[in-house]
This record gives sequence, C-alpha cells and structure tokens, in this order.
Amino acid sequence: MKNKILNILINNENKYVSGESIANELNVSRVSISKNIKTLRNDGYVILSKQNKGYMLINENDYLSDQYIKDNTDSFYKNITVLDSTSSTNADVKEHASTLPEGSVLISNNQLGGKGRNGRPFYCEKNKGIYMSVLLKPDIPLDLSLLITACAGVSIVEAIKDVYGIETGIKWVNDIYYKNKKLAGILCEAGIELQSMSLEYMVVGIGINVHHINNSQFTDGIASSIEDFTDTFRHRNDLIVSVLNHFHYNYKNINNDSLIEKYKKYSIVLHKNITVHEKNNTYNAYVEDIDNLANLVIRKEDGTSVTLSGNEISIRL
Ligand code: BTN
Repeated sequence: MKNKILNILINNENKYVSGESIANELNVSRVSISKNIKTLRNDGYVILSKQNKGYMLINENDYLSDQYIKDNTDSFYKNITVLDSTSSTNADVKEHASTLPEGSVLISNNQLGGKGRNGRPFYCEKNKGIYMSVLLKPDIPLDLSLLITACAGVSIVEAIKDVYGIETGIKWVNDIYYKNKKLAGILCEAGIELQSMSLEYMVVGIGINVHHINNSQFTDGIASSIEDFTDTFRHRNDLIVSVLNHFHYNYKNINNDSLIEKYKKYSIVLHKNITVHEKNNTYNAYVEDIDNLANLVIRKEDGTSVTLSGNEISIRL
C-alpha cells in the first residue's frame, strides 16, 4: 500500500494531492492513507501535509550545483564552491580571506556549528536551507559597514519575492521576517586593518530556512521556513542565484539613496514601538527613522533621541 501511495505522490511531485483522492483511487480508508504516510516519513520521505490540501512529496533531489549557480550569476562571483558539510561557512571564508578574491562564495548543504549574531548558534539542517558566505573587499570607510548588512537584507527580501512571490520584511538590522516568523538571518563579520581603521574584508553570511524544518528544532520559537508559508516548491539553486544577483546589484549601488529607500520600505520596525536590549539594560522607544548609514534613529520615552548602530531590539505589539 505504501508504495502505491508513494507512486501517486511521485506522479504529483511538489504539488498537493488530497487524502480523499488518494483514498478513492486506491479504494482504502483515509485512516489507512494517513498511517502509510507516517511510515513513508519514517522511511525518510519528506511529505508535507496541510489541512484542506492534502499531502505533498518534496522533491528530494534538491541538490546544490556550483555549475548552475556559476552559469546564472555574473562574473563578479568567483570560486563558487558547494560543500556537503562544514562547521561554519563564515569561519571557512574568514580563514582564507587574505588569499581569496572579492566575490568568492562558499555554500554548504549543512553546517555543524552555524553561527548567529551575538554568539548565538544558527540551527541548520542538511539540505533544508541555504548556508552561504560571500567575501567582499569593499573600499568603504568602517562606518559604512552596516550598509553591507542592509544590502544583504534587501537582496534576500527581493529574491524571496521573485522566487516565491511572498513579501517578507526586515527586522533591523539583519533578520528577515514573514508573519512574525524569522525565515533568514545575516551575520556580517569584518576584518579590520587596525592602523588605518579601514575594512580589510567583510564576510557576508546568509542563512535561509527554505524547506520545512520541524519547528521544535528552533529553540527560539520564532524561526520558521519559507515553505511553511507557501505551497510552491523551488530549488535552492534558484533562490541562491536570485539572492546573489540582487546582492551584486545592491552592492554596486551601496552609495546610492535607492538602497536605503528600499531598506526603509521593507523595514518592519520603522514607525513602531520597540524595546531596546542593551547588555545590562532594556528600555522602550519609538523608531523615528533609519538614517543613510542604516542606523536606527529612535526616541526614548523621556523624549531624547538616540541613534543605534547594532543593538538587539524587539518589536512591541
Ligand atoms: C542570525 O540569525 O543571527 C544570523 C545567522 C547567520 C547564519 C549564516 S549561515 C551561513 C553563515 N555561516 C555561519 O556560521 N553563519 C552564517
């Protein structure tokens, strides 16, 4: 029975098939269908289920292809490398930053020590997400470095819109949200030339939860995957290509007002009440603006205005 169900699902790969239609076709009960779906999942098949829609077998052959990514991105990108697993793509790129050229890209199907901001771990699951680092050697002063995070944020929002048709937003400074759930994060790590206090290199680490991941794995309770919000199956290669192409365009325009205009348009914190979390202090404030360097301009409850360039914030509903 389970093989017959699997056949139906394969014939409808990446589309939902209702439990009722499978039951009718095989002349068995809905209970038997759901039992067999459970067995198939235990066998390792990734089958999504949604109320009123049924079951969808996810194409397991979502292999990453460095060749495909190379062929569909411009020549800015060099040494596009896909690994099966590593500790952290950011750590790998940082280690070789002095010898690698700008535009080098490292992507891994899994990370065993994925890093998030403020020393937090970033949860990764093999073949489920995009775990990618891009090396930049920008000729910009240190105080413009937040704009690179902004570039990455804008590019991820644009790519998700192009590939899935959904409009995500940016929670300052580096998280991509959809319906109060975090779908992606950015970790930019810089190498600084101490004498001149200038940027030697910047590693832009991008983590996107793409295919469904069991939500209990996300310990923060706010993370989710793109596929939890769309019925559309897309290959990760296409999302990577789109992110990289948007990123190069936005990076070229880093000094252009249009980048900050887009960043503000996609912001989910602008004109919102927030709580600022400092090391030993938290306070409430209102977000008045995002300035040209992507800093957050806030007004505290005592009326004073403060410019933030990197604190942790949460939105007050
Ligand atoms: C965050 O959410 O705080 C940032 C998450 C950044 C995760 C990406 S995945 C690729 C790169 N390598 C890492 O170890 N982290 C970044």
